[in-house]
Amino acid sequence: MAFRWKNDLTYKDVTPEAAFWNRRQVMAGAGGLALSGVAGAAQAQDLEPNTWEEITTYNNFYEFGLDKGDPAKYAHTLNTDDWHITIDGLVDKPGDYALDEIVSQMDIEERIYRFRCVETWSMVVPWNGFELADLLNFVGVKPEAKYVAFETVFRRDEMRAGGGIDWPYREGLRLDEAMHPLTMMATGLYGKPMPKQNGAPIRLVVPWKYGFKSIKSIIKITLTDKEPPTTWNMLQPREYGFYANVNPEVSHPRWSQAQERRIGGGLFARRTPTLKFNGYDEVASLYEGMDLAAKF
Ligand code: MTE
Repeated sequence: MAFRWKNDLTYKDVTPEAAFWNRRQVMAGAGGLALSGVAGAAQAQDLEPNTWEEITTYNNFYEFGLDKGDPAKYAHTLNTDDWHITIDGLVDKPGDYALDEIVSQMDIEERIYRFRCVETWSMVVPWNGFELADLLNFVGVKPEAKYVAFETVFRRDEMRAGGGIDWPYREGLRLDEAMHPLTMMATGLYGKPMPKQNGAPIRLVVPWKYGFKSIKSIIKITLTDKEPPTTWNMLQPREYGFYANVNPEVSHPRWSQAQERRIGGGLFARRTPTLKFNGYDEVASLYEGMDLAAKF
């Protein structure tokens, strides 16, 4: 990849709504010189992060139960000490890497991303982490590799995972998606270590895809030349594709994807139009010439 994604706003830059409107009035009064400020503030509003409370109590982590509140109640039983990630398959330096060793090699930065679940809710999350590409370059990807497969830890004695799912939770990306500068391995939230319910100690974040691609508590990464099996696709192939790009034009059988609802908006939360690729247009070139309705 020739470029790195640049984070031009952090949550400290976010202008509270009232202040924004006052400022615009002030600026208009001062001669209307605020155009770039207004555009920036409008974007910042859209990127106003959800609260810590919202992000850490409304979760999907089926290993700890099916209710949105279950992960916050039960994920504390997961032991995340001395975490290792096995990296194998088509790599130059396969191995069992201590997470501490990996993190010491990486630049940890903050990225505020929109996060959109296939169930149509959305949040804005200030993640901390590093680009997956940096990790893949660190271990060296062999030229034959075309996909990256990920696995979540599975420990029956630490999880209340029910039947129906063929554990461990598995996900995958095409290699160019994995190498894209937007794709990150997140180790924290709001500058704090990743809470267990959000996928401690390390998870994937792919902001232009539905949330189920963003696999939590990763212990294994395999480079392969075949499209890897993925949990939701294995369970319901007609409902969940391998690509799972956010797309208002391709509806899930149970959920129209035309609109979304931002968590935290209260009872009268406005539904807003879903943005293709969740607004991350810079990934469109990855899918040129592909029929995104067929490869959903
Ligand atoms: N990873 C694992 N291991 N198990 C899961 O159940 N749920 C996925 C994804 N990663 C899931 C997972 C789904 S459906 C979503 S929407 C996101 O995690 C939710 O992430 P959050 O709880 O941090 O918002």
